[in-house]
Amino acid sequence: MMSMSQPRTGRPRERVLTMRGIGKRFGAVRALTDVDFWVNEGEVVALVGDNGAGKSTLVKVLAGVHPPDAGTIEFDGEPVVIDSPADAQRLGIETIFQDLALCDNLDVVANLWLGRELRDGATLDEVGMEQRTWTLLRELSAKIPSVRIPVASLSGGQRQTVAIARSLIGEPRIVILDEPTAALGVAQTAEVLNLIERLRERGHGVILISHNMADVLAVADRVVVLRLGRNNGVYNVPDVTSETLIAAITGAVDHSPARRSDRAGADTPPGTGEPAAPPADAAGEPGGGTVIRMPPGGARRSTRPRGNGRR
Ligand SMILES: Nc1ncnc2c1ncn2[C@@H]1O[C@H](COP(=O)(O)OP(=O)(O)O)[C@@H](O)[C@H]1O
Ligand SMILES: [Mg+2]
Repeated sequence: MMSMSQPRTGRPRERVLTMRGIGKRFGAVRALTDVDFWVNEGEVVALVGDNGAGKSTLVKVLAGVHPPDAGTIEFDGEPVVIDSPADAQRLGIETIFQDLALCDNLDVVANLWLGRELRDGATLDEVGMEQRTWTLLRELSAKIPSVRIPVASLSGGQRQTVAIARSLIGEPRIVILDEPTAALGVAQTAEVLNLIERLRERGHGVILISHNMADVLAVADRVVVLRLGRNNGVYNVPDVTSETLIAAITGAVDHSPARRSDRAGADTPPGTGEPAAPPADAAGEPGGGTVIRMPPGGARRSTRPRGNGRR
């Protein structure tokens, strides 16, 4: 994975995951209807939408928590069925749910390796696990004072860091974060946003669920809007404002594929604030025609204001 940490301009990022036409009902509730979604390697995709829009359900489909009723999922170009959390993990899909699921009484090392402990013969390889923990935290530029203190004594941001580091033990292709900054203050939020950038540099595809448009605009490459369980726009971040996103989230602007079909082919280039390469328009094209165009040169990263990670 280390070789993936260099920015790779001039070569399109590989598609890791493509979901098409995903549907999910809970009894009479249609949580998801005909949802298209995709993630490339080294790409941060924000998934936004109002409460009940279907964000958690969509990532739970990926995490193997909820089997979809309709639609297809491709991973590395191959059709896959994700029937259980174990299936998801085997594919390389790691989810960090809001509760983090850390063991408060255990130290950082134990939390990272829980259930996957390194062994040295019959005994645990504590030195090896501790060293690899430090290496991982260093790669993430994480600020953890000690890896031998119970995680209960860490701040909210540090706990989020531990949960993210733990998710990387198996070198996943996709890391899903459900509202990672919801409970955090400004400084800790900036820390978590920096971590997300490190994930991108390491080549992971990142799915970020967030209500915070400042966070989304600071860290995401692309934003997917869900509304009432349906797609309602896909936007390249340099081309979109928080106002546009909020309009799509609330329904002031309707970009649902059904409404858009009367202007199919009006494939608006980035820079206009219009949804980029609507997946429904491209569905069915050979080779998965849902590829979104990257900004010219693909070098946007280096030109974006960073600083404290907010804008
Ligand atoms: N396990 C469940 N059982 C029944 N209904 C559910 C379940 N999970 C989600 N829903 C319903 O599905 C819809 C989408 O919910 P959810 O995916 O949690 O939205 P979001 O994460 O965007 O707030 C809501 O109407 C919600 O009440
Ligand atoms: Mg949710």
